[in-house]
Amino acid sequence: MSDRQIKLVEVGPRDGLQNEQAIPVSAKIQLVNDLTAAGVSYIETGSFVSPKWVPQMADSGDVFAAIERKKGVTYAALTPNLKGFEAARAAAADEVAIFGAASESFSQKNINCSIAESLARFEPVLEAAKAANLKVRGYVSCVLGCPYEGDIAPEQVAWVAEKLFAVGCYEVSLGDTIGVGTPLKAQRMLATVAEKVPMQHLALHFHNTYGQALANIASCLPLGVRTLDSAVAGLGGCPYAKGASGNVASEDVVYMLEGMGYETGIHLPHLISAGQRICASLGQQPRSQVALAEIAK
Ligand code: HMG
Ligand code: MG
Repeated sequence: MSDRQIKLVEVGPRDGLQNEQAIPVSAKIQLVNDLTAAGVSYIETGSFVSPKWVPQMADSGDVFAAIERKKGVTYAALTPNLKGFEAARAAAADEVAIFGAASESFSQKNINCSIAESLARFEPVLEAAKAANLKVRGYVSCVLGCPYEGDIAPEQVAWVAEKLFAVGCYEVSLGDTIGVGTPLKAQRMLATVAEKVPMQHLALHFHNTYGQALANIASCLPLGVRTLDSAVAGLGGCPYAKGASGNVASEDVVYMLEGMGYETGIHLPHLISAGQRICASLGQQPRSQVALAEIAK
């Protein structure tokens, strides 16, 4: 992979739609197919979590069953425990992701256990994934702030990220769950984590609540990070972080990266169409400045 190539992890169908109103499964399937057609190579397609906790994702199995898979594209699923892992396997997910947090309070609210308990809970998932030859991605939430605890020390983020890497996650995605980070803070956090986990195994996952996500990404690229999570149309938020808005919009990230001379392999007009179509199903406007500007032309 050249230094100018960026891997974009599209999390709209999962992180986006988990926090939007319920929509028909056909709209979710269409979204994944549209993203595939736009050239997205990694799509977090759904999650296998408790339907009591996140009812919006209860039909993820149906989504996986009906999407048109393209060779070379990874269709991944979020799995908090072995039960979720087994469901992801049954759905033929290409990869799974486990998710922990750098904040104790958020860990309790999100997955109903402490950070230490979560790490113990992930172990059987990692073992099962290894036996099944499936790669596992790891998330750390609240890397730039927690809705319950406020500031989170970069060292605490690095500690959790190192644990996830050590137990076998091939990549650790650093989540600014509530989108409060600013560029220098983001740089400092990433640099601290990179002392424990090599940069090529790190990803940034920025929500855009305070409108800082693009600036944060731009400030972190010179540090060498080349994997970025984003959601088409800026969909979503987090059910356990009140007021958190969606991820940074994929259209905005692609536009900025292209302007900086990076390659994403994504066809921007098709990506914008994918965002428009899902937003029509949701009855809302895309939350991507780039999409809005292009649509208004
Ligand atoms: P719990 O209540 O402690 O779990 O929840 P439990 O093991 O006691 O099970 C309770 C019930 O849930 C049982 O059913 C289980 O069978 C069922 P009952 O007997 O009551 O009928 N259950 C499941 N059902 C389906 N699939 C499963 C599953 N596991 C248990 N996998 C649990 C613990 C982790 C399950 C729960 O807290 C949960 O599902 N949490 C998920 C929350 C979530 O999805 N949050 C959003 C994703 S994370 C995120 O958005 C952040 C991220 O984007 C990064 C960032 O931005 O920072 C990744
Ligand atoms: Mg998120």
